[in-house]
Amino acid sequence: MEQQITKALPTMIEKATDPQLKQAFQTHLDESQGHVAKVEGLLKQFGKDETITCKVLSALVSEAEDGIKDAADDAVRDVTLIAAAQEVEHHEIAVYGTLRTWAGLLGDTAQADVLESILKEEKHADVLLTGIASRINTTAETRDYATAQ
Ligand SMILES: [Fe+2]
Ligand SMILES: [Fe+2]
Repeated sequence: MEQQITKALPTMIEKATDPQLKQAFQTHLDESQGHVAKVEGLLKQFGKDETITCKVLSALVSEAEDGIKDAADDAVRDVTLIAAAQEVEHHEIAVYGTLRTWAGLLGDTAQADVLESILKEEKHADVLLTGIASRINTTAETRDYATAQ
């Protein structure tokens, strides 16, 4: 899942036009590369090093690609990118929240702490995107309204 995200984010950085959004994606790409390393570390503890494609992520990335193609202008494309990114964050929050809870129930506090640290960054990224969305959505709506007149 994290590997798929680190592959998708460079395109999202490239396609985003709002500077704050571009920066938020860049920051989260750096964080996501850290998530790859942390998850690989956890898997190694179980002697696992193979990766499995996350079907949810594949679907979300495919939808995001459609949204980028279909966007009428830059503001609408930015809004679409935020929506796609927040869907990804919400999926990650669900996955890491579940895994953190399972690790806690199994009494593995070290692993629960690693998962919690990732979860915090996913939640922070989501909050940041909500803040940017509240500003950019207004621009996109205004433009859409103006076009419709
Ligand atoms: Fe992540
Ligand atoms: Fe994330």
